[in-house]
Amino acid sequence: MAIVAPSILSADFARLSDEVGDVLEKGADWIHCDVMDGRFVPNITFGPPVVQAVAPVAGDATVDCHLMIVEPDRYLEDFHKAGADVITVHAEACVHLHRSLQAIRNLGARAGVALNPHTPPEVLDYVLEDLDLVLVMSVNPGFGGQSLIESALRKLEVVRGSVDRRGLSVLLEVDGGVKPDNARRFTSAGADVLVSGSGVFGAQDRAAAIAALKDA
Ligand code: DX5
Ligand code: ZN
Repeated sequence: MAIVAPSILSADFARLSDEVGDVLEKGADWIHCDVMDGRFVPNITFGPPVVQAVAPVAGDATVDCHLMIVEPDRYLEDFHKAGADVITVHAEACVHLHRSLQAIRNLGARAGVALNPHTPPEVLDYVLEDLDLVLVMSVNPGFGGQSLIESALRKLEVVRGSVDRRGLSVLLEVDGGVKPDNARRFTSAGADVLVSGSGVFGAQDRAAAIAALKDA
């Protein structure tokens, strides 16, 4: 069964706590928080205070923070204190990626690396043992509701192969354009965690959407 991580980017922010509670009640496993700074990506979303508001509602569910920000090292501690369980930084935003991953793990959080659509999976070759999660972006980060970039599927297969060959327990997450009707393509390519924003929060029947993603 896939781990389903609805992205609150597509939630109603005026009712955020109800929205988080709703998707968890309907079977979601993780809560995915998309942090954007208007520099690494063109859009701006929210920072640690919103994660801090979400964390108590999430309860035991994993709070999965995807940092689409430059110089993420400056904010790792703030996000951890706010309640992030997984902190994912972008390989493209980290000059010293290995150091950033160590910093995340030293805080006691799980460390993730996200790859933009153009970034080759080989950037992970020398850090794969130092991380807990790889996030393959299947759209250019910045906005919800975009359609899948096909090459992400090939990249998922490559990363899956590297993780399995080395016998690691790294989770493979995919983010962008994931919907109930195409989810199986991602799990077949090796994804363990499916992030879905508009595919869950925008669904008429959220419970059915989450169930379909899980069963993919
Ligand atoms: C994109 C974000 C995604 C986004 C996914 O920059 O990282 O998490 O919310 O949205 P959908 O599922 O609508 O493509
Ligand atoms: Zn995301």
